[in-house]
Order: sequence, then C-alpha cells, then structure tokens
Amino acid sequence: MAILSSNISQAVEFLNRGEPIAIPTETVYGLAANALDAHAALKIFEVKNRPTFDPLIVHISSIAEVDKYATAFAPKAKLLAEKFWPGPLTLLLPKKKNIPDLVTSGLDTVGLRCPAHKTTLDLLKQLEFPLAAPSANPFGYISPTTAQHVQDQLGGKIDFILDGGACEVGLESTIVGFEGNDTVIHRLGGLSVEAIEDVVGKVKLNLNVSSNPQAPGQLNSHYAPKKKLVVGNINELIRKHYSEKIGILSFNNRYAFDYSFVLSPSGSTSDAAHNIFSMLRELDQSPVDLILAEYIPDEGLGRAVNDRLRRAAY
Ligand code: TXA
Ligand code: MG
Repeated sequence: MAILSSNISQAVEFLNRGEPIAIPTETVYGLAANALDAHAALKIFEVKNRPTFDPLIVHISSIAEVDKYATAFAPKAKLLAEKFWPGPLTLLLPKKKNIPDLVTSGLDTVGLRCPAHKTTLDLLKQLEFPLAAPSANPFGYISPTTAQHVQDQLGGKIDFILDGGACEVGLESTIVGFEGNDTVIHRLGGLSVEAIEDVVGKVKLNLNVSSNPQAPGQLNSHYAPKKKLVVGNINELIRKHYSEKIGILSFNNRYAFDYSFVLSPSGSTSDAAHNIFSMLRELDQSPVDLILAEYIPDEGLGRAVNDRLRRAAY
C-alpha cells in the first residue's frame, strides 16, 4: 500500500527522485511526475497501463510559467487563463522543446493547466519542474475523486499519495485548443461551455473521435465502470429490467431500490458533477449487475456529466 499523507515535503522528495506520486486537484486526483524528465513520465504510463499515444497534461503553478513551456500564448488563450486559472481548464498551446515528446505523444502542442488546489499549488511552488499528470486511475476506468480511491486502485503500484481531501469539482478539466481564429473544445469538463463562450465567443466542439490516438479522454468507451450501464428513461428501464439486480443513478429523484444514488437532490448540475464518479464507483462495487442511469439537463456542467455517462455506457 502507498503512504497516504498530506506532507508536502515528502511529496517533493519522491518527485525529485523521479518517482510518480498521486496528487490532489480540484477536478480529480492526478498521477504526477516531473514533466521535463522522460524517464519519470514513462513511469506514469506504466503505472496506469496507459497507451503512450495518449498525451499527458502538464501542471504549472501560475500563468507566468506558460512562456517557459509554450512558444506562443494566443490572445484568446491568455484571456481564458487570466479569467479561469487556477481552475478546471487545460489549454493546448504550441510546445517548447523542453517538454519531452513522450509527454505530448509526439504532438506539437502541450496541454497546460494551473490547478485550483492549495496543496498542489504549494507543492508546485517547491519544485523546479512542472508536473505531468493524467487522472490517477487505471486507463479507461472511472477517475478518482478521493485519496482512498487512488489507494484502492493504484496503491500497490506507487509509494505515495498526497492527500488533499475530496475533489471539489469532481470532473476532469475542460480541454481547449486554438485553430486559426477558432476556439475548439476537445473535452467537456469542469468549466462549462457557457463560461468559456462568455469570454471568447462561440466555440467549436471536437469531441467524438472513436479511436483517434491524438484524441484525449475522447475514446468512445472511457470513464467506464466494470458493470454494464444503460442510460435512458429510468422508469422504462426499471420495467424492462425488473427481474435483474439493478442499481440506479438518477438526477434528482430517488427510487425505492437498495442501490439508488441521486446525483443532486437540489437539481444542480455542479453537484451532479461533484458526485458522478464517486457514485459510479460505489455502484460498481455494490452487488448489482446492471446500472440504470439518466441524462441530466444539458446545461452548465450537465453537458460534461452527460458526456461521461455516454462514454460509461458505450
Ligand atoms: O482535470 C484534469 O485534467 C486531470 C487532473 C489530474 O489535472 N487530468 C486528466 O488527465 O484528466 P487525463 O490524462 O486523464 O486526461 C487528459 C486528456 C488526455 O486524454 C489527453 O489525450 C489529452 O488530455 N491531452 C493532453 N495533452 C494533449 C494535447 N497536446 N493535445 C490533445 N489532447 C491532449
Ligand atoms: Mg483520465
């Protein structure tokens, strides 16, 4: 089992030695290593069982660090960073040579993000390098939103988990790229499309790429529980599957079943985002055979929640 601790100096020691550790962020826990050291970064791929065609996000402590790792900072990208960093936003920018090709899977852009979590910002400030960190889950599985989730799945493969409590946002960052004059969203996440459009105007969505290697958590099947999950009208699904051992993941109504989870009793899409991964995980670990779920309103963080449900069901 890994050491589970909030001791930042200990985290620094592991990272300085080139060892990957888990770190908290406001979105999900990350599996972090020195982003400037290909050997250290390679260990991330090994621990996660992640294909090397799937690039890593690089975490920095402030907007001032962008120039160290990107050759250009487009005006729209800068506007977004100024408005939303630290926060659940990853910007794809043209990379400098100091970022190893392994980290970006050979792409000429690097995903940069300044996370809004005090512990990890303190950690980053004590390091002489940025941190490459994908979500700290085995490839394709549900992302971890507590230190214990990481312990349960990767505790046998890493030495240290920096405990920063439960993740506030609960969904991965929104990934935004820039092509010519266009702002392109590559992954829906913890920052809503509406919030981004308020700053840079209309955006394009580039979300569904079935098996394109350079595509992010865009693989159709991703964020998936091991149990079968179907999404639709819950009452109809219950009638259809009545004889099976079912669990339910609903938006704001509770159903009279032993394993019935409500994403947001108050009907808030950000509460649903906060809860979705931990509830999916509990359902996956429960004795049910089949998970019945429903889409939530497609606004605010609802779009990202629905995206995760769709991929979990695929
Ligand atoms: O909230 C988050 O973004 C979390 C925390 C730990 O920061 N990280 C995260 O990483 O979700 P990960 O690896 O699970 O998902 C990041 C996605 C990957 O699927 C990767 O393909 C995409 O970002 N990505 C990274 N760099 C990219 C690039 N240069 N171009 C296109 N996609 C990129
Ligand atoms: Mg991930």
